[in-house]
Amino acid sequence: MRRYSPSDPARFPADAVTLPDEIVREVEELRAELNRHAFLYYVEARPEIGDAEYDRLYRRLQELEERHPELVTPESPTQRVGATPQDRFETVRHVAPMLSLDSSEKSEDVERFHERVRKALGTGVEPRYIVEPKLDGASIELVYEDGVLVRAVTRGNGREGESVTENIRTIPTVPLLLRTEVRPAPKLLALRGEVMMYISDFAAFNQGLMEHGLEPYASPRNSAAGAIRQLDPRLTAQRRLDVLVYDVLAAEGVTFGADSAGIEAIREWGFRVPDRIVTVSSPEEIFAYQAAYEEERDELDYEIDGVVIKLDDLAARQAMGATSHHPRWAMAYKFAPRQEVTVIEKIDIQVGRTGVLTPVAWLRPVVVGGVTVSRASLHNREELRRKDLREHDTVRIQRAGDVIPQVVEVVEKGENRSGPFEMPTECPVCGTAVYEDGPRTICANRWGCAAQLKGRIVHFGSRAALDIEGLGEETANLLVETGLVTELAGLFDLRPEQLVELEGFAEKSASALVEAIASKRTPDLQRFLIALGIPEVGVTVARTLAESFGSFAAIRAAEREALEAIDGIGPRMSEAITGFFADERNAAAVDAILAHGVEPEEVEVVSMGLPELGTAVFTGAIPVPRVVAETAWRSVGGKTSGSVSKKTVFVVAGENAGSKLEKAEKLGVPVLDFDEFLAKLREHGGSIEVDGI
Ligand code: IVH
Repeated sequence: MRRYSPSDPARFPADAVTLPDEIVREVEELRAELNRHAFLYYVEARPEIGDAEYDRLYRRLQELEERHPELVTPESPTQRVGATPQDRFETVRHVAPMLSLDSSEKSEDVERFHERVRKALGTGVEPRYIVEPKLDGASIELVYEDGVLVRAVTRGNGREGESVTENIRTIPTVPLLLRTEVRPAPKLLALRGEVMMYISDFAAFNQGLMEHGLEPYASPRNSAAGAIRQLDPRLTAQRRLDVLVYDVLAAEGVTFGADSAGIEAIREWGFRVPDRIVTVSSPEEIFAYQAAYEEERDELDYEIDGVVIKLDDLAARQAMGATSHHPRWAMAYKFAPRQEVTVIEKIDIQVGRTGVLTPVAWLRPVVVGGVTVSRASLHNREELRRKDLREHDTVRIQRAGDVIPQVVEVVEKGENRSGPFEMPTECPVCGTAVYEDGPRTICANRWGCAAQLKGRIVHFGSRAALDIEGLGEETANLLVETGLVTELAGLFDLRPEQLVELEGFAEKSASALVEAIASKRTPDLQRFLIALGIPEVGVTVARTLAESFGSFAAIRAAEREALEAIDGIGPRMSEAITGFFADERNAAAVDAILAHGVEPEEVEVVSMGLPELGTAVFTGAIPVPRVVAETAWRSVGGKTSGSVSKKTVFVVAGENAGSKLEKAEKLGVPVLDFDEFLAKLREHGGSIEVDGI
């Protein structure tokens, strides 16, 4: 394929010359402007224009490209997300081998490494090192020819990996064209970086999976690695990913004397590089750097698992060479692991804001990466059964950032292990009978259960919602137990005099909380929607709703058809949303909040796309409850229906399938068995765990 770089005079094919010059120039200017603003926004985090202005420029470019399709180039900012899923990834050779790193958690090994380097350099020369965070993501090679991104390849076995270019193109911090304002583009450039998923996005994504009874990812790294191996790039585009670039693997015609110069060049070409890269020359400085980073580790929104120490001088690197596995001039100095082994002392139940009963493991306290852990979520009864966790079992647990610790697996069954854990039939907090919904067990006492109100308050003030400082679990418990707050709106009536009466409050903290609540009277629309706790409405759906309808009143008034007309909102969501607002108690609770002067901000309506995989119909006895299979399909962007029609893309038939199967055969609709359905689901990034499969 012929590629054009921005400075290439032959950028537009010859048949485009019939177009008026102004149009060609405007398209070119729009692309340059959009690239510059994307760089300022995503890489430098210092935007010069707002979203609305950016969208305006983007739409203008889209409009011109639609009118003059011959002007579209693959590098246009409008062409990041391709529309056609691939059927497999091609295996390709790396431009230069992607080696691994020697690694250790011991400071003595760092000292030994330093001695080896000194010896190799000879006496009199003190080594200088580049030290930077070791990012815990998925390694990627980015290849640019004449400044144009032509390939992105996973690490694979180090010599060759899979070409996931279409997916990497969807990541906004990866330039499709190198910036060349400061530094020209080499003929061939291969860079190495790490694909990262933010911990906050990871937590929300997993939450969504679990709410649909699907298996959560074990770590942001697994989730990032899964995201870049989606066959449909539109699915990759939905998970917010970032790429941080730390190494020049090859640059034709360019020589750098030191790694630090290479990193400077990477920056100038328009990439994000890891934060806080420093140069040091002694083990002591390395120890101090590592210790400081370890202390801050939990506050970062991405995972790092240590620091990397690299000799800065590239000639000296050459002299030291590499083994087949790792270079001798670098090492990773890792943090203490975040996995530990401990014992489940007890399993009990916690009731959340939506009434869902979550089994929780009380653990023999154990320090994991500097934090004492004594509790871990076991998600739901399916998850418990899948992992066969019982009281007194010895288990492996892990934590990632601020995310609730997870139990990974049973290491050893306890001698006196309990029988399988049974979910209660009544809510342990209010005594109301529970009901089952897919893998979930739910307390039906929506308005009377104290646990649910506490949960709603915590959620209302949580980071993704209204982000109210000081409104944590403990405070919510106090507010509910003392009867100070009986509905969400009551938060806006709180006075400092009331709060000082509560345990743990002083005058200052009492007025700080009241002020923090009052300061959220004009919330972001997306955050307000999240705060209300509407079923099915998480970060992504809230954003879609806000951007599609623009105002809270419009969302509240929207009918099911209007909701379902939006990509990414299926019948289940539309039912949940309209059902929420139609419920009298919900409506009263929302009215009360609005009556307290809360005015969600309006947003400009933009169009956005989610995939649409077509309607599936399930019939007969399949190995999981039908609702689980249906939600799994919908969670990857498909639709489901109870009846077969010409619009049905496939029917999944289990045993004893009857009339629907017949109808499918009559209409020529493809019929899949359950295994084939699972394969299809996996293709689109979804999964269902089924025993024995
Ligand atoms: S340098 C030959 N720097 O760690 C040296 N690697 O265990 C190449 N990694 O697969 C690696 N952050 O993906 C380097 N700042 C960093 C890194 C880093 C993360 C990954 C890399 C590699 C793994 C080695």
